[in-house]
Amino acid sequence: MTASEGTILVVFGATGDLTHRKLIPAVADLHRTGLLKGPLRIVGYARQDLDDESFRALLKQTVEGEGTNAVIADTCYVQGDFREKAGYERLAKRLSELEKEGGSAGRLYYLAAPPSFYTDIFQGIGAAGLAKEGEGFRRIIVEKPFGRDLETAESLNTELHQVFQESQVFRIDHYLGKETVQNILVLRFANGIFEPLWNRNYIDHVQITVAESLGVEHRARYYEEAGALRDMLQNHLLQLMTLIAMEPPVAFEADAVRNEKVKVLRAIHLPAPEDVPRLTVRGQYGRGEIDQQQVPGYRQEPDVAANSNRETFAALKLQVENWRWAGVPFYLRTGKRLAQRTSEISVQFQRAPQRMFAREARLKPNVLRLRIQPDEGITLSVGAKVPGMKIELRDVEMEFDYDAFGHPGTDAYERLLHDALIGDSTLFTRKDEVESAWRVVDAIERGWQQEETAPEIYPAGSWGPESADELLHHDGRRWHLR
Ligand code: BG6
Repeated sequence: MTASEGTILVVFGATGDLTHRKLIPAVADLHRTGLLKGPLRIVGYARQDLDDESFRALLKQTVEGEGTNAVIADTCYVQGDFREKAGYERLAKRLSELEKEGGSAGRLYYLAAPPSFYTDIFQGIGAAGLAKEGEGFRRIIVEKPFGRDLETAESLNTELHQVFQESQVFRIDHYLGKETVQNILVLRFANGIFEPLWNRNYIDHVQITVAESLGVEHRARYYEEAGALRDMLQNHLLQLMTLIAMEPPVAFEADAVRNEKVKVLRAIHLPAPEDVPRLTVRGQYGRGEIDQQQVPGYRQEPDVAANSNRETFAALKLQVENWRWAGVPFYLRTGKRLAQRTSEISVQFQRAPQRMFAREARLKPNVLRLRIQPDEGITLSVGAKVPGMKIELRDVEMEFDYDAFGHPGTDAYERLLHDALIGDSTLFTRKDEVESAWRVVDAIERGWQQEETAPEIYPAGSWGPESADELLHHDGRRWHLR
């Protein structure tokens, strides 16, 4: 499918780093791959005092990648404060002029501004009549974080719905745009062999790890407010979990898929505050070594309070209370400054019911590992007979590597931008999905606050706090990735 002609991408907060890191390269890729029928022009809106020329010059300094020059040459800029009515009016005027020149299939607004301005921007768009459909579509992509708890997410949704219908809203979670993440549903539902086993009768437990080796970088101001639970678990990890745990949707369509994902989120058991310390781990990185380089601890990073208790690591044991998953734990963990940058989902199957071979006890159970990034692929470990007269068993791996396709997949932002342009919201999170995810996170946050859980310090370059290992050892299990 191709996107329509003469579309305009309006970026609120266009001078922030998302525009040059992700959006311009994604638009350039869309042009290059021929997925756009006509031109897609970027109009930047931000507070900085710039005009078209100086905005383009600014982008030129920072944007890299093939084909980006042509995209930059076509960008425009409207200066405006997020709270200033006149700014939105200037924007409206400029957009109509551009549309008169170049035709109009629609406008896609992209909220790349600081979240504290989201409500002002919704209201500004609404008051200037910029959300009204008629001449073309009007859609909005909202970046994370979408709220900081259930209450703020609900009020943000209310504000958003004053101006846009849910069908016009595209809440982004870039993990859903990753090829390997999209493949989870294909693996489960386009193959006949997994689904019959995909339940509590055959699966022992599921592990989801999203490990980063980078630290907080220059984002400490945001991160001090958020922490690993809000920054990663509320969205990326819970999204991965829904794709693993959901029932087969009736069709691969936005609402059918999202209905099933919401059911998973709603079925996650919300622990009582006093149970939270037993089911979760909070950690914070201390000094350590990454790639043979000494790196500072979180509390030594710029803009971080010297006594900060913000978690940079979180591990959770969650239960999905439904017929498919009753009794099957889902262990989720994520952290910064861990030993490697690796994201992986592993589904561990139960052992064979009878031990027929003398040395079988040494075999590991079968594990299906979905390697999300880097080194994208799928591995299934099975027990095999070592050739020879004796019956000796060993674990071997059946492996599929994405390199087999011979070309890199589409970048997540390119994919998601394309989908928003054609109005397909399957890979975006719906209102009730975001709210249900916050409900889970709020229950944990409440427990941490009530029990005054301080983060456990782990050395940068390790696999996180020892308690995260204990969380699984206690259940007779261990993390596969370590
Ligand atoms: C973002 C988080 O959503 O995802 C960052 O805010 C994190 O803290 C990033 O580093 C990780 O994304 P990726 O695609 O590099 O795994």
